[in-house]
Amino acid sequence: MTPHEKRTLYDELAAQLAALLEGESDPIANAANTAALIYHGLPDLNWAGFYFVHPSCAPSPACPHPFPPPPAGEGEKGATSPFRPPQVSTAEKIEAAAQLSPPPLAGEGQGGGKHASGLRELVLGPFQGKPACVRIPWGQGVCGTAAVRGEAVIVPDVHEFPGHIACDPNSRSELVIPLVRSGEVVGVLDLDSPVLARFDETDRLGCERLVAILIASLGPE
Ligand code: SME
Repeated sequence: MTPHEKRTLYDELAAQLAALLEGESDPIANAANTAALIYHGLPDLNWAGFYFVHPSCAPSPACPHPFPPPPAGEGEKGATSPFRPPQVSTAEKIEAAAQLSPPPLAGEGQGGGKHASGLRELVLGPFQGKPACVRIPWGQGVCGTAAVRGEAVIVPDVHEFPGHIACDPNSRSELVIPLVRSGEVVGVLDLDSPVLARFDETDRLGCERLVAILIASLGPE
């Protein structure tokens, strides 16, 4: 595809996205349709979707560690059962959940999804492609790096990016665009490709334009 053809494609996708999101402000619905349009509209992608900034899931009753250590004295038996659910009462979960902020895109003035502790992480949102990693620690991977910097990151070869988080072993290159609303990073758009050096500046500019249409669809900032 020539640079001109690529720019024309992004022009078409921007027009289609604006029409698709017209009159709708639900963040999950609009992010889902944006991911679907991008995934099916751009060539050579194996994943396209969103991660949103959430309060950090430090181990707590509301957000238990997925692999809790075995209780004292359980020894080898506990160590062989990493998927055993934690023993937390419903009342404890409700109490702890009440202390967490609502999702950043749906709420107002949530400070980019910061928990009272100030800890944040990225949590999987709507996407197209194979199942992916659910939580990305703040500042880690390509997604966390773009979120912390508040600017797009193009990775020509994911194997050369220190700390790249491999969700799909077929991914060879990646483009991550931060979603900025009211001056705060509230999430990222992540595109993966099985082709080396798939993304260039035209893709960055085109995807930043698509992300701006999504953010604008959510209503006044
Ligand atoms: N590769 C990303 C993780 C998300 S997946 O690619 C869907 C990263 O390094 O942040």
